[in-house]
Amino acid sequence: MTHLFLEALYCRNLSRPPVWLMRQAGRYLPEYRALREKHSFLDMCHQPELIADVTLMPIKRFGMDAAILFSDILLIGEAMDRGLHFEENIGPVFDKPINSPADIDQLPSIDRVNTLGFVSKGIECLKSKLSAPLIGFCGAPFTVASYLIEGKSSRDLKKTKQWLLTDPVSFHRLLKIIADWSVDYLNMQVRAGVDAIQIFDSWANLLAHAQFQEFSLYYLKYILQRVPNIPIILFCRGSSTFAPQMASLEPAGISLDWNCDITQMRSVVPSHIALQGNLDPDILEAPIHVIRHEVNKILTGMRGDRGFIFNLGHGIFPTISIDAVKTLVECVKNSRRNE
Ligand code: CP3
Repeated sequence: MTHLFLEALYCRNLSRPPVWLMRQAGRYLPEYRALREKHSFLDMCHQPELIADVTLMPIKRFGMDAAILFSDILLIGEAMDRGLHFEENIGPVFDKPINSPADIDQLPSIDRVNTLGFVSKGIECLKSKLSAPLIGFCGAPFTVASYLIEGKSSRDLKKTKQWLLTDPVSFHRLLKIIADWSVDYLNMQVRAGVDAIQIFDSWANLLAHAQFQEFSLYYLKYILQRVPNIPIILFCRGSSTFAPQMASLEPAGISLDWNCDITQMRSVVPSHIALQGNLDPDILEAPIHVIRHEVNKILTGMRGDRGFIFNLGHGIFPTISIDAVKTLVECVKNSRRNE
């Protein structure tokens, strides 16, 4: 059976473009909010049956062409024993942030990755229930390091950036450890049955050009080389600037933020690398006719591209309406063949 999403990821899709949305399994869904009344977010991430149920929610409601595993990039930090919890209106918090090189030396050994076995079980649970391809994921070492260092969400990553500027050696030590954990974690997801992987570098946009090369790209390459035989999509906020550097790693696909014209990006990213994106998520809060117009603009620009996957430039907001998402998915699904 051919799947549009995988066909496009291999840049050989001759049909309409596939569509899925970052954060499609989340709080904008009434059925997600109802389940969340009974469980904490982390509880939901820990229970294989709930992982499967939430992953399936958007597929059942909208029929996206790919499912993304319900989980979180920061579970690796929990496995590292840094005391992860999620606070209402604040987001993720690490009770024990990484404050010094000595904290890096005290991180537990890598076999603790196995404490994430509930993720594998969730994937196995999904395989019989899901006909669409399943996307596994992890955070890029730079983004995961930034949360471990800041201890919570931060707009400017002051502590992280000062660390990498003043003591790059220990910063690299931390990135290497996270990269090794990520390799094991992703290979665990592959063994359990995911069909593709996306790596999220949500804060790369705060890095200068050469810093991106040194502190992010190097470790993305490290991971790509060690997680073979599975198509990997690289996403970063900042991909409108960093796409040529990302393309040099030859990933299966690049997911673009919404600051660039995706059609023009095709002249920068070779046609054997899939392009995913890149609707501005704010457009989903505009009137329905504006949503249709903007979605069609991207579809028209990318018509005929065998490696195009429709997505947002970043995740869906919890405030976005069901009707808006329905409109987007219908527009893509009703679009003309990719000829
Ligand atoms: O639907 C999906 O995309 C699958 C699941 C998924 C979640 N988080 C679920 C989630 C994925 C792929 C992520 C990735 C993630 N997590 C990233 C990278 C992508 C990005 O958005 O840049 C980051 C930076 C995180 C860390 C994280 N998790 C933050 C900052 C927050 C709180 C802020 C927010 O956006 O809500 C979370 C919580 C989170 N992760 C929720 C969900 C559904 C909401 C939890 C709740 O129900 O309260």
